Amino acid sequence: MANLFMISFLHLLIGIYGVAGNMLNDNFNILEELENLDINEEDVEPSWTSERGGKVLVNVDSFGAVGDGVSDDTEAFRKAWDTACSTPKSVFLVPPGCHYLVNATKFKGPCVDRLVLQIDGTIVAPDEPENWDPNLPRLWLDFSNLQGVAFQALQRGSNSKNLSPIEHVNSQTFIQLDLTQYNLLKALTIDSSSFVKVKGLTIQNSQQKNFVISKSDSIGVYGVQVSCPGDSPNTDGIHITGSTNVVLQDCKIGTGDDCVSIVNGSSNINMNRIYCGPGHGVSIGSLGKDNSLGIVTKVVLDTAFLCNTTNGVRIKTWQGGYGYVHGVRFENVRMEDVANPIIIDQFYCDSPKPCQNQTSAVQISQIMYRNISGTTKRKEAMKFACSDTVPCSNIVLSNINLERKDGTVDTYCNSAQGLGYGVVHPSADCLKVRGEESYTKKCCGYEEIDFSAAKI
Ligand SMILES: *[C@@H]1O[C@H](CO)[C@@H](O)[C@H](O)[C@H]1NC(C)=O
Ligand SMILES: *[C@@H]1O[C@H](CO)[C@@H](O)[C@H](O)[C@H]1NC(C)=O
Ligand SMILES: *[C@@H]1O[C@H](CO)[C@@H](O)[C@H](O)[C@H]1NC(C)=O
Ligand SMILES: *[C@@H]1O[C@H](CO)[C@@H](O)[C@H](O)[C@H]1NC(C)=O
Ligand SMILES: *[C@@H]1O[C@H](CO)[C@@H](O)[C@H](O)[C@H]1NC(C)=O
Repeated sequence: MANLFMISFLHLLIGIYGVAGNMLNDNFNILEELENLDINEEDVEPSWTSERGGKVLVNVDSFGAVGDGVSDDTEAFRKAWDTACSTPKSVFLVPPGCHYLVNATKFKGPCVDRLVLQIDGTIVAPDEPENWDPNLPRLWLDFSNLQGVAFQALQRGSNSKNLSPIEHVNSQTFIQLDLTQYNLLKALTIDSSSFVKVKGLTIQNSQQKNFVISKSDSIGVYGVQVSCPGDSPNTDGIHITGSTNVVLQDCKIGTGDDCVSIVNGSSNINMNRIYCGPGHGVSIGSLGKDNSLGIVTKVVLDTAFLCNTTNGVRIKTWQGGYGYVHGVRFENVRMEDVANPIIIDQFYCDSPKPCQNQTSAVQISQIMYRNISGTTKRKEAMKFACSDTVPCSNIVLSNINLERKDGTVDTYCNSAQGLGYGVVHPSADCLKVRGEESYTKKCCGYEEIDFSAAKI
C-alpha cells in the first residue's frame, strides 16, 4: 500500500506543480482519480422536461381527490397514477393550494416514457398510527420501476418558467408527514428506477428516513429541501443505498440524523452545494453491521456548508464487516460549530449493548479532504479511528483549517496512514507511517520527496 501511495503522491505533485514525468504507471493514479471523480450531471437528467405543449394533464382532482387534508384521497391518487402511467406524455398533477391526505401507497412502474409528476400541492400523510397500512409499515410514498420520470414542484416564489411545463406561480409545495412513534418509516422512496429527476420538492417531518434512493441508477436530485426537528430520531435526510450515478445538488437539509447517508452498493455519488444543519452531517455508512458487506466507491462532496451539526464529513463502519470504501473526495466545505468536522469511525456502534472489537472490517482508503475550514466544537477536529486489523490508507489532507474557540485543536489517529500538503491545521502528523516520516519531508515539492518507500 505504501508503495502505491508514494506513486500516487508523486502523481498528485505533478498535477499541482506541472512537473512532467512519464515513469509513472497509470495504474497507480489514485489521486488523479480522486481529482476526477465527478460524473456528468447531464447523464442523469432527463432531457425532455422543459419541453412544452402536447402534454396530457392527469389531475388528481379529476379522479375525485378532495384536497381538504381530511378526506381520504388515496384512491384518487391510485387511479390518477394508473392513468398517467399508461398515457404517453402525461403529467400527473397535484394542483397547488390544496392538501391531499394519502395513505401509504406503492406507485409502480414501468410507465410510458417521459412521465412528469408535477407536485404543486401538498401531500400529507395520515397521522394516526391506525391509519397506516399494516402491509406497508415501512413506507409511505413508494415509487418503483420507473425509467425516465421527472418529479417536479414549484418552489415558493420561484419563477415557473424554468421549472415546469405547466404555468403556476407562488404555490407552496411540500410533502408533509407528521411525527408519530412509527418505526422505520420512509417518507418518499424511489426504488429500482433509472433516469429519474427530482426537482424542487420539500419533504417535512418524516417519521424516519425522509427520502430514500434505493437500487437505482442515474438519479438527479435538485433543489430538494428536507426539514425535521434536530431532535427527531433517525430522520435521515437523503439516504442512498444500492444506487449508482446519483447527483444531489442545491439541497438544504435540516434533520435529526444524517443529512445525507450513503450505504452499501453505492457508487458515483456526486453532491454539490449541500447545506446541512441541524443534523449529523454527511455520512458514508454505516457499513458492515452484523458482519455484512459494505462497498461504497467514488463519492464526491463539493461545496457544502454544515452548521451546528454533530459531524461534518463522516465515514462510519461497524466492527466485523467486510468490503471497502474507496475513492472519496470531500472539498470546499465550510463548517460552523461542528462537533466532529472530519471523522472516520470504524468503531461505530449504534446499539444499546457495547460492540466487541473484531478482526474483520470494511477497508477504507483513498479518501481526500481538500479546502475544509471552519469551527469545531470538540478538540479533535480530525479523527481517524481506523480498525486495528484493517488500517485506513491513503488519506490525503490539503488546505484544512479548523479552529476551536479556546484555541486547542488536535488530530486523533488510530491505525491510519496518509499525508497532508498545503495548510493542514490541526497538523495531521499522526497519519504518517512510523519509520517513514521522512518520506514527505516538508511536503512542498517534487524534489523533497524521499522515494525510498516507492519500489515500483
Ligand atoms: C386509508 O387508510 C384508512 C385507515 O386504515 C382506511 O380506512 C382507508 O380505507 C384507506 N384508504 C384506501 C383508499 O385504502
Ligand atoms: C444547534 O442544534 C441544537 C440541536 O438541534 C439546537 O438545540 C440549538 O438551538 C442549535 N443552535 C444553533 C445556534 O442553531
Ligand atoms: C451490498 O451491495 C452489494 C452490491 O454492491 C449487494 O450484492 C449486497 O447484497 C449488499 N449487501 C447488503 C448487506 O446489503
Ligand atoms: C474553499 O471552500 C469555500 C467553502 O465552500 C469556498 O467558498 C472557497 O471558494 C474555496 N476555496 C477554493 C480556493 O476553492
Ligand atoms: C477496540 O479497539 C480500539 C482501538 O484499538 C480501542 O480504543 C477500544 O477500546 C477497543 N474496544 C473494545 C471494546 O475493546
